[in-house]
Amino acid sequence: MRYDTILFDLDGTLTESGPGIMHSAQIAAEKMGFTGVDPAAFARFIGPPLFQSFQALGMTEAQAEQAMGHYRAYFAHRGLFENAVYPGIPNLLRRLRAGGTGVYLATAKPQVFAERILAHFGLARFFDGVVGIALDDKAGDKPTIVRAALPKRAGRAAMVGDRAYDIDGGKANGIDTVGVCYGYGTQAELAHAGATHLVDTVTELAALLAPDVPIPRGFFVTVEGLDGSGKTTQIDALGHYLTQRGYEVVRTREPGGSPIAEQIRRVVLSPDNLGMHPVTEALLYAAARAEHVQAVVRPALAAGKTVLCDRFVDSSVAYQGGGRALGVDVVRGLNAPAVAGTMPDATLLLRVDAATAMGRRSRATASLDRIEVEREAFHQRVFDAYEALAQLYPDRICAVDATAGVAEITRQACARMDAMLAAR
Ligand code: TYD
Repeated sequence: MRYDTILFDLDGTLTESGPGIMHSAQIAAEKMGFTGVDPAAFARFIGPPLFQSFQALGMTEAQAEQAMGHYRAYFAHRGLFENAVYPGIPNLLRRLRAGGTGVYLATAKPQVFAERILAHFGLARFFDGVVGIALDDKAGDKPTIVRAALPKRAGRAAMVGDRAYDIDGGKANGIDTVGVCYGYGTQAELAHAGATHLVDTVTELAALLAPDVPIPRGFFVTVEGLDGSGKTTQIDALGHYLTQRGYEVVRTREPGGSPIAEQIRRVVLSPDNLGMHPVTEALLYAAARAEHVQAVVRPALAAGKTVLCDRFVDSSVAYQGGGRALGVDVVRGLNAPAVAGTMPDATLLLRVDAATAMGRRSRATASLDRIEVEREAFHQRVFDAYEALAQLYPDRICAVDATAGVAEITRQACARMDAMLAAR
């Protein structure tokens, strides 16, 4: 029988928080004059109450208390976010919610930090309740935390964690326990503590906790814009952003992205093929897309992955429909069997005018392909077609000013991505 209530530990279970915790501990220890400590010693700060960990370094109670102040001064602003969600966690949480399971956080971290971490990584929306400790609580007693987090009317509940403390906390409250071996504890530690179940991966955890809930379709994100709009930089940033939030990102591109489609890419972009007829061109892009969608995009989405694709069908509508003046409807028609209903959930359109984009291309060191060498009037028509698309699909297409600074564009793109993920 499935569990109807799940309590999660945070560090080492949902997030790989080690870097920020170790860094904060090291800074605090150094401020206290404990220099030259073996860096491995800071790994033992992940999980147990901080106060105990500082004492384990040889500090007195008074020193440990002072060290906690230094730790938190760094942690609150920086260390908190030197952290990443384990791959697959958002999908696991979505599946639990979809299956009607109650989801709670039971952490020995201060509640304020736990809430900020969940919010920062877009996980807060999955939780029915969050229980951490007060900032002045030095014990961080897990049985007490679990008791506080456990809802009154919990039926079959389990505590999931990566350390013996978590297992002890669950057992003390008479509930089952799941030890995750991918965190900061060892399998031996968790087995010795008497975990009801042990799992090695998030995938195994999902199979245990939500066996009958199908994997949700992944998120399909595309990035569009004129050549020279800075797509590559923003795709790198988006990929990092999504990966840090636990999304399993499959990065790909069009034309290309699969072996056959990459061969078509060479033909369609080769400067040797300058005389290519626009219809041939449109059909080649569509052919490459058909391959890519079937071989890469659909399987990845079916496996719950996030597909991050450099260009998709909007490029054909803009370049062949607008730029080559084949007409939007004709190009859409050609692409219907290629796309086969697989449309992006979110599209980032990097908006830069044709003249600026052309200036950027002329400064690029790489040789220009067959499309890039087109005149400004061509790229102006592409721009206009993109604008029309953005007007037509305001819910899907997020247009940002690609002449703003790189960091500002990334900030806007990520904020929009968050909103779209939250709306799912
Ligand atoms: P891109 O990979 O963005 O170029 P680069 O490798 O130089 O960054 O895109 C290749 C070119 O193909 C680009 O000029 C846009 C064009 N293109 C179309 O005309 N139609 C399409 O459907 C696609 C996907 C791309």
